[in-house]
Amino acid sequence: MIKAIVYNSETGFTKEYAKMLSERLNVSYYTLEEAKKELNKQDEIVYLGWICAGAIKGLNKVRNRYKVKCYGAVGAFPKEDNYIESLIKSNGLENDKLFYLRGGINFKKLKGYKKLIVKIVGRVLEKNNKGKEGSEELIKIFNEGASFVDSKNLDEMIDYIKK
Ligand SMILES: Cc1cc2nc3c(=O)[nH]c(=O)nc-3n(C[C@H](O)[C@H](O)[C@H](O)COP(=O)(O)O)c2cc1C
Repeated sequence: MIKAIVYNSETGFTKEYAKMLSERLNVSYYTLEEAKKELNKQDEIVYLGWICAGAIKGLNKVRNRYKVKCYGAVGAFPKEDNYIESLIKSNGLENDKLFYLRGGINFKKLKGYKKLIVKIVGRVLEKNNKGKEGSEELIKIFNEGASFVDSKNLDEMIDYIKK
């Protein structure tokens, strides 16, 4: 049985998913710092972390400390099989269960170099995809921001946790 949801969120999207999951599973949700106080080592958890340059943030702080039932990676890119495969490989999760949850981009909460990186990604996407069908949405997201957070995105993960 899951003891809690532990999450790491920079601009709030992952926190929104953690809160929704907590309500749907009826378990508490904690930041990494709170979890250290509230949970015991090897407690069973679900971990949700935001993606920064392909890395699921906070992963190394939980993978040996708790028993992780499954992971949720929250990013801005669309949910695609190839992308999830690459996340599994780059984060060393071949023997674990990973779900991709689409978050968004919130420029109001991004600061400093992180904001700059997202702006640069937006410009690169624009340059490399000019005129390519279907690329407009992604370019718009990286230039203006957007949220794709939806409770339905958690359905697959919840089925897995409950089974
Ligand atoms: C510096 C930086 C790097 C990012 N790299 C990725 C990435 O590699 N893949 C992705 O899908 N999203 C990437 N994003 C987008 C975030 O993962 C996305 O905004 C996510 O929803 C943030 O979650 P949070 O609000 O919980 O912090 C990046 C964002 C920033 C600021």
